[in-house]
Amino acid sequence: MTDGANLVARDATVFYHQHGSSPCIGALRTARGLWIEDMDGRRYIDLHGNSCHHLGHAHPRIIAALKDQLDELAFSPRRFANAPATELAERLTGRFRNGRSRLLLLPGGSEAIETAIRLARIATGRSGIIALEGSYHGHGMGSLGLSGRGLDPRLGSQLTDIHHIAPYWDHAGGGAEAMLADLAACFDQNRGRIACLVAEPMRSNAHVPPPDLWPRCAEMCTEQGVKLIFDEIPSGLGKTGRFFAHEHFGVTPDIVVLGKALGGGVLPLAAVIGDESLNLAPELAVGHYTHEKNPLLARAALATLDVIEDGDLAAAAVDRGRQLERLLDGREAGGRRLALRGLGLLRALSFDGAPAGEAVLEQLAREAGLSATAKDDRSIGVSLPLISSDEEIRMVANRLCHMAEVLSRADEC
Ligand SMILES: Cc1ncc(COP(=O)(O)O)c(C=O)c1O
Repeated sequence: MTDGANLVARDATVFYHQHGSSPCIGALRTARGLWIEDMDGRRYIDLHGNSCHHLGHAHPRIIAALKDQLDELAFSPRRFANAPATELAERLTGRFRNGRSRLLLLPGGSEAIETAIRLARIATGRSGIIALEGSYHGHGMGSLGLSGRGLDPRLGSQLTDIHHIAPYWDHAGGGAEAMLADLAACFDQNRGRIACLVAEPMRSNAHVPPPDLWPRCAEMCTEQGVKLIFDEIPSGLGKTGRFFAHEHFGVTPDIVVLGKALGGGVLPLAAVIGDESLNLAPELAVGHYTHEKNPLLARAALATLDVIEDGDLAAAAVDRGRQLERLLDGREAGGRRLALRGLGLLRALSFDGAPAGEAVLEQLAREAGLSATAKDDRSIGVSLPLISSDEEIRMVANRLCHMAEVLSRADEC
């Protein structure tokens, strides 16, 4: 048994088994930049990175900042202010609603979404939530219910008073027009009862909404006194080519939620940034988390902002994204036509022709030296760090074309 296989076996003995985790597909030894290397020496370009790797893995400025912070102040109970947490709050709120905003920091995305909902409920005095069928906003008992139907009944009851509407990315189901019609019907049927609409401005399956969708939704929300909450946990922080993904759509939500890459790709951190008018319940603990003001987490986020700003990485995401488009979109590879969707470096590539199946796509990607997750049975996620070089982008495109050729050869057999 190899070292890697041995570790996978030990992992599978001690962790509860769950979808997408244990038993694991391999065991990692190192992760640097775009690259991950397993314990048996296989190297993959990471097109997944759990949506945390905006700066690539183990960015040297993040690692250096954390070592420094460990020597300075490694923890702070939440009742004390500390310099990294306050500076982070100042820098993030400075970027939202012209600085007329406040925030809460939390140790994970799911908790952040639930906190955003609490803020909206307090502000409106209503409890109803609208979410998109088939969305994903985390795995807490509050956030998981936002995903829609089809949850396993063994999980028991989830948050109630959630109303699901058709998602814009379901083109067969009517797409954006169906979503708008559902939203209007939901408001009609629940007049004065809806607190918020929760959605990703661009779902991380990389389907781009039509340009008028969010302005129309935002207008309807304003008319109804409903708060618009954008989940930018995978898509924020420059990934789509703008610091906030919603900047593409000409709409500013009442609340935006960041997460994942905010912790520099090494630590868990999320932020709920909302209009300052939502500062309404000082007597409650709306976002009460042990690590909410952890200086180490905040320092990782500050270093992340520094790297993004110093390198103008949102602009880099636009350039590299265009390069990927030129190399892949509309190209024929082994008889399969490729289509690249998404914005910046949050992308997905679809292979036309017979559906290959998600497991087959992921296996073929690994054989091509790519670690990627399928977005459906014809497409694979292409989520790349904003620090990707010209040459690395070309390498990614070559590997994806090779994957399409293997897929086509398999069709012929
Ligand atoms: C869109 C979106 N929202 C929320 C979450 C939940 O974040 P976390 O896993 O940090 O709780 C995820 C995680 O994949 C996500 O993709």
